[in-house]
Amino acid sequence: MSTDLKLTPLFTKEQIRLKTREIAKQVSADYREKKPVLIAVLKGSFVFLADIIRDLSIDVTVEFVQISSYGSAKTSSGTCTFQKDVTVDIHNRDVLVIEDIIDSGNTLNFFLNHIKERNPASIRICALIDKTVRRRHDLTIDYSCFEIANEFVVGYGLDHDEQFRHLSGIYELTA
Ligand code: IMP
Ligand code: MG
Repeated sequence: MSTDLKLTPLFTKEQIRLKTREIAKQVSADYREKKPVLIAVLKGSFVFLADIIRDLSIDVTVEFVQISSYGSAKTSSGTCTFQKDVTVDIHNRDVLVIEDIIDSGNTLNFFLNHIKERNPASIRICALIDKTVRRRHDLTIDYSCFEIANEFVVGYGLDHDEQFRHLSGIYELTA
């Protein structure tokens, strides 16, 4: 680990746990008697997804996609490409996109346009963190655990240059 990076605690694992439970309960109620496809955007959302699904009281299909847009920089490049596309059939299915963090919204906007072409029955968005101030697209986030300003955060699946994903809390990263 580089010595000039500083981690400041933002959300503890207990705070995250409370929020993920609340959201899982809401999702279970909203999709009762349905079987949504949860599409988690790798890599950052894997811890969040794992916590959410274990608190659901409904059956779901789990799918993963990987989209690159960020590289190792702290700002989105605006150009998105698939490392892994959706492989399950989502035609007429209820899709719930599971994202770690929505910043400019470039990644999500690209992904939503892509899946809309496959005519799912519905699409909703579930994000661990909503970073609203830098948003460049008009997006409705249906479920979110935390809203933050412009902080760059790591931990609980989120990385900086592939570091810090294993931390159980969420931290602000500063130089
Ligand atoms: P967007 O396309 O600008 O919305 O960027 C979304 C993606 O950038 C997220 O899914 C993350 O992978 C990454 N990202 C944005 N902000 C942060 C952050 O504060 N920490 C770690 N990754 C971030
Ligand atoms: Mg991501």
